[in-house]
Amino acid sequence: MPKLLLLPGDGIGPEVCAEVRRVAAALTPDIEVTEAIYGGASYDAHGTPLTDEVLAMALSADAVLLGAVGGPQWANAPRALRPEAGLLKLRVEMGVFANLRPALCFDALADASSLKREVVAGLDIMIVRELTGGVYFGQPRGIETLPDGQKRGFDTQVYTTSEIERVARVAFELARGRRNHVTSAEKSNVMESGVLWREVVTELHARDYADVTLEHMLADNAAMQLVRRPTQFDVLVTDNLFGDILSDAASQATGSLGMLPSAALGIKGKPGLYEPIHGSAPDIAGKGVANPLAAILSFEMALRWSFGRGDIADRLFAAVTRALDGGARTGDLGGTMTTVAMGNAVLAELG
Ligand code: NAI
Ligand code: MG
Repeated sequence: MPKLLLLPGDGIGPEVCAEVRRVAAALTPDIEVTEAIYGGASYDAHGTPLTDEVLAMALSADAVLLGAVGGPQWANAPRALRPEAGLLKLRVEMGVFANLRPALCFDALADASSLKREVVAGLDIMIVRELTGGVYFGQPRGIETLPDGQKRGFDTQVYTTSEIERVARVAFELARGRRNHVTSAEKSNVMESGVLWREVVTELHARDYADVTLEHMLADNAAMQLVRRPTQFDVLVTDNLFGDILSDAASQATGSLGMLPSAALGIKGKPGLYEPIHGSAPDIAGKGVANPLAAILSFEMALRWSFGRGDIADRLFAAVTRALDGGARTGDLGGTMTTVAMGNAVLAELG
């Protein structure tokens, strides 16, 4: 039986994951869903955000779906044991180097965007963010005290040819199934790692993907273009740091953070890691009002990318679209529906 490991985590994580469980039970009763403790809750119970046992469960599942981790109550936990450290560790241990973040504007939500309807109508970008390299992991890093008493903080951006090539390959492959256009964003004008990034992407394109249109764009210009005319993008591939920033900017164009799912993929045949891009939302946690659609759409991505059930994924996506067309709205979308009511709206459309 195919296995999904659910790691609800903290804050609104368990609330939105409960809706994923209900959708999965209705749609794919043949997928075995197991739940485990992770994040701040695991730190409280076991002194670590990610136990070896849960990591082993993740590595042996077909897919892992996370809720969210973190919260103010763990702000003073040792840095290496913070809930967020458990998340970074899970990504690295699972080797999920390509983070797919679709920024898609549902027609029913075009007026919820902070950009004008005519600018976001039809918006459908697939951001491919490199997830396990770059400045978030590069060595050396640290904070040191200089002889004059002031401090010096430093990080290192590192990318190897193979790290760039494998994530670019994911982007080109995705583009072939979409509008056949890849934009690669870096800062080759001021960074050596950016020069290498552009070189590797250009070579790979010429060698294996000449049928796909490739455009290079400096990352700061990409940020501006995302706000000016976001529909010009199809697949946008970039490094870990720029991908983090550009995908948050793109997400707002779609209406709400509570709508955006993600998939982190690695080597073919290994489990994928799926998560809504939002956090644990301590301000609304426990109130039952969080939007569960980002989590439900993350399950939709898992069906597509890890379980080989593209047809069922299409059905779920269509049900979410109809629920929104029918006016289903949680608070973040300007409505008053509870988390459970939004789950019910999707279940009703699934029939
Ligand atoms: P956040 O994403 O948790 O919340 C930002 C704002 O968006 C809040 O006003 C929240 O109420 C709202 N929001 C988020 N998700 C929503 C949903 N599904 N429905 C309705 N409203 C929603 O980001 P914040 O507040 O910066 O971080 C809170 C905690 O989450 C921190 O500890 C942070 O480290 C952690 N975090 C964890 C992530 C993860 O587990 N992948 C990702 C981002 C943050
Ligand atoms: Mg981020």
